[in-house]
Amino acid sequence: MQRFGDNWTLIKLDILEKYLKSYTTVMKNKTYFNLIYIDAFCGCGVNEKINSQGSPLIALDYNFDKYIFIDKSVKYINELKNNINKNANHTNKNILYINKDCNSFIQELSLNRYDRGVIFLDPYGMELSWHSLELIAKTEKLDVWYLFPISGLIRCLKKDRKIHDTICNRITNLLGTENWLSELYQESKQCSIFDEIEYERYNIKDVLSYVKNRLSTIFSGICNQPKILKNSKNSQQFALFFMCSNPKKNVTDLALKLSNYILN
Ligand SMILES: C[S@@+](CC[C@H](N)C(=O)[O-])C[C@H]1O[C@@H](n2cnc3c(N)ncnc32)[C@H](O)[C@@H]1O
Repeated sequence: MQRFGDNWTLIKLDILEKYLKSYTTVMKNKTYFNLIYIDAFCGCGVNEKINSQGSPLIALDYNFDKYIFIDKSVKYINELKNNINKNANHTNKNILYINKDCNSFIQELSLNRYDRGVIFLDPYGMELSWHSLELIAKTEKLDVWYLFPISGLIRCLKKDRKIHDTICNRITNLLGTENWLSELYQESKQCSIFDEIEYERYNIKDVLSYVKNRLSTIFSGICNQPKILKNSKNSQQFALFFMCSNPKKNVTDLALKLSNYILN
């Protein structure tokens, strides 16, 4: 069993479920496509804290031809198998369980001409590398829900801009550029008593627009506004983004119409 999250976790799962429902309905008659659901941070399928099924069990209620469940914890993969096998409705489903870091799995991911699908990226924090997002975008076949760790990023972006090298590398890995150091800070109008330049970090709203701009450099479409998920103390934890990788305008327009409607 896993125990994490809060009311925002239920909101996140509700948004995912509504999209899976719309997606499988729209694709129902397009039988020439092989529909795939990929859960790159799948967990064990049950969240005791919020008394809810996790994303992989929710996805199994919708008709995909194949499900790929990835988690780097062998314990969670084994628990997920047990949880899925308890439900007789799931016994005939085509499920691939992968016990490894999803960033290395995504490097090996190869989709065929008729594959189409949805990938859910639901990390605890800053585990997903930008390179993985680039590879997902290059498939041109996947719709993407990404729970971006805004509170994790803000914690790393120290106000005085004095950030340890290890943390700098983690931020670069998350955002896919080293320019964030100059782009997310501006020179302060006040000088320090030692006449050094002082910096001010962008506020959370501007950091989120920056993230959205970065994502839109690699995906063909992105939601108007991500869903901001707050904890019980009203502090912003994550931003749930939707992106579309298919470059065909009619496909992107439809995916964005559905996702924007659900996000609103
Ligand atoms: C927030 S939980 C996922 C919850 C799940 N989506 C749900 O709805 O119940 C994050 C999961 O990602 C796994 N994880 C963390 N880092 C990972 C990585 N680099 N690759 C794959 N799985 C990872 C953790 O073991 C954990 O089970």
